[in-house]
Amino acid sequence: IVDIKGGESEGVDRLGQTLTVRGWVRTLRIQSSVTFIEVNDGSCLSNMQCVIDSDAEGYDQVESGFIATGAAVCVQGVVVPSQGKKQKIELKIHKLVTVGKSDPSFPIQKKKVTREFLRSKAHLRPRTNTFGAVSRVRNALAYATHKFFQENGFVWIASPIITAADCEGAGEQFCVTTLIPSSKEAIDSPASSIPKTENGLIDWSQDFFGKPAFLTVSGQLNAETYATALSDVYTFGPTFRAENSNTSRHLAEFWMIEPELAFADLNDDMACATAYLQYVVKHVLENCKEDMDFFNNWIEKGIIDRLSDVVEKRFVRLTYTDAVELLLKSKKKFEFQVKWGCDLQSEHERYITEEAFNGCPDIKAFYMRQNDDGKTVAAMDLLVPRVGELIGGSQREERLDYLENRLDEMNLNKESFWWYLDLRRYGTVPHAGFGLGFERLVQFATGIDNIRDTIPFPRAPGSAEF
Ligand code: 4AD
Ligand code: MG
Repeated sequence: IVDIKGGESEGVDRLGQTLTVRGWVRTLRIQSSVTFIEVNDGSCLSNMQCVIDSDAEGYDQVESGFIATGAAVCVQGVVVPSQGKKQKIELKIHKLVTVGKSDPSFPIQKKKVTREFLRSKAHLRPRTNTFGAVSRVRNALAYATHKFFQENGFVWIASPIITAADCEGAGEQFCVTTLIPSSKEAIDSPASSIPKTENGLIDWSQDFFGKPAFLTVSGQLNAETYATALSDVYTFGPTFRAENSNTSRHLAEFWMIEPELAFADLNDDMACATAYLQYVVKHVLENCKEDMDFFNNWIEKGIIDRLSDVVEKRFVRLTYTDAVELLLKSKKKFEFQVKWGCDLQSEHERYITEEAFNGCPDIKAFYMRQNDDGKTVAAMDLLVPRVGELIGGSQREERLDYLENRLDEMNLNKESFWWYLDLRRYGTVPHAGFGLGFERLVQFATGIDNIRDTIPFPRAPGSAEF
């Protein structure tokens, strides 16, 4: 359908042509003389309006009730001008084939349904306008991500999903268990090779073939190893956080984009983050016009203008100390009191991005490079209105002695980071990188308010059914 209706002429250049369209019925309107069938194939937001009268081949399928919302059809017809206001052309059907009929119980009918309801129908929600549009924009953002990094000489690196390292040191990891048949037997067998705790229960935290392993919270440490060999690299893959939080900005499984720049400092890192964001937003504005108009009209009024600002305007750079001062000076009452040294909360980020600048920094992770003041680290967050923290990044501590001290200070096990420390022993270089939560980027680009509606099958407390 996008091939037919997607161009400037909206299909008028196809008048008189005989075409075949395959897709799913969105609506059916049976009138006395003709029947209208709206077909969508997911290639774009627009439906193909099809008109069928009683002498067309396959008309009996309309009468027999096979053609209902949700049915899969293949229609062949000739392109004619449309009388309707919504489209310039329509398809006058010669031949209608029902590929798969739809039961009348199809849960997503024309009437307005809530997003909560659609979340419980995650297998069928891509058949709606909103989820079709989100899926296409998400796809465009992924494509633009690879395009940006490839054009700038970065090498894509696959970081592992299973790992023993806790990059963020926050202990928010899911642990991996092995459930191969032999280990199921072992559960019942007293001679089990699986480690047991004192009360005889299986210690699942030791169960990656007898060793502890977790789902990765970030591919950064692995990316650092490749950046200190191939220069600029990036990862783009799923990451996991065992955060039992029910917010509109957190998922248990989310995709992260993590570039790592060699021979680079925090300024280079910030420049890369802003150039990246401007590039992908511009790409979506230019290539997803129909979907973006839809979001602008139905999801978040004015989003196109706000995204255009991102492409054109400069980003405000604010130090942590200045951000804290700004918050202290504001007359706003915050739930969490601000004081220098504290982790900024969502309400603070919202104030900074939506009120102070009309539209922060985290507690320091062990790998962040210490500044000369001995108090702060070379880290940055990129905040955007509505979403808050979109990017977190830093210059990494490349000095072996500083890094070892830091691990000690934070009571982290130095031995388990032997390989990470090796990078500082053999040809260490200043390097920096960031992580961008891909679903938050989709939220930002589409105006969708709940992160669970930006990924096909959201993983959050209480949702892992599909
Ligand atoms: O700030 P975070 O925790 O940083 C890191 O993981 C670094 N290792 C990244 C790096 O420097 N390579 O996470 C980075 C970003 C956040 O800014 C946010 O956009 C996203 O990941 N994020 C989440 N998105 C959805 N659900 C969650 N639970 C998220 N936690 C973080
Ligand atoms: Mg962060």
